[in-house]
Amino acid sequence: MAIRRAKISVIGAGFVGSTAAHWAATKELGDVVLIDINDGTAKGKALDLFEASPVEGFDSTVVGGSDYALTANSDVVILTAGLPRKPGMSRDDLLAKNAAIVKECSMQVAKHSPNCVLIVVSNPLDAMCHVAQDATGFPRERVLGMAGVLDGARFRSFIAMETGTSVEDIQAFVFGGHGDTMVPMPRYVTVGGIPLEQMVAKDRVQALVDRTRKGGGEIVELLKTGSAYYAPSSSAVQMAEAIVRDKKRILPMAIRLEGEYGVKGLFCGVLGKLGAKGLESIPMLELNADEKAMFQKSADSVKELVEALKKLTY
Ligand code: LAC
Repeated sequence: MAIRRAKISVIGAGFVGSTAAHWAATKELGDVVLIDINDGTAKGKALDLFEASPVEGFDSTVVGGSDYALTANSDVVILTAGLPRKPGMSRDDLLAKNAAIVKECSMQVAKHSPNCVLIVVSNPLDAMCHVAQDATGFPRERVLGMAGVLDGARFRSFIAMETGTSVEDIQAFVFGGHGDTMVPMPRYVTVGGIPLEQMVAKDRVQALVDRTRKGGGEIVELLKTGSAYYAPSSSAVQMAEAIVRDKKRILPMAIRLEGEYGVKGLFCGVLGKLGAKGLESIPMLELNADEKAMFQKSADSVKELVEALKKLTY
């Protein structure tokens, strides 16, 4: 039997991309390729990371460059290319510039790895998923947006701080678009199996929800020169891991909905099951009237952006 390692390519060797390569290599998810328009940056970061492997003891090769031929036959591609936010900018301000970048990169990805699962990370996330799907022609099972794991991780971090509890024992997820209208789901949060509402007062729960919604902006305001990268890259790699290890994990992510939750033809964050084929199913969650309304509002804001995108040439 021919056994080969999985191959994970990361497009964009900025902070998110190079840190994703770092997590993927150290977790030995497979061999890692780092691509950037700047050949030397990708080559240099890849070589530097590989030179850490004897010290850290991981057996993943890491190579880099600007030539997409390096990515041939990847199992998973993590697309991080694009400009990050600056203070005062919303994710939506990036629309036109990043659409052109994401389109070009996605076409290259599809050409060299026609069977890969593509995980989109570039912002504005949900709109960039549309660009990537149009450019690749991939089915929805193989174009997924990374936002829910990140937003959920932020929510879990804040709940851990609030309750003084291990992050491992906190289950929480976020629905909707990756923007200010995202919908953290406190009703479904558990801390060691105990519903959050039995542990934390209502007003505090609301404060945690609000902080989660603004979680990306909080980091941008602190860094001043860019946006978050540790948690975003680790979240993308968790999705990659679920795929290359065929884990059947249920994680929140941007999925092109085709009628689920009353939304059609639009990428929006919901729970999906991830395995070797990419998206394997969409386990449905019961939403109450408030949650439905918030989800619909969030889907509407994604729709607005996708409409704006249609009017642009990129
Ligand atoms: C964030 C940006 C990357 O949420 O969207 O940090």
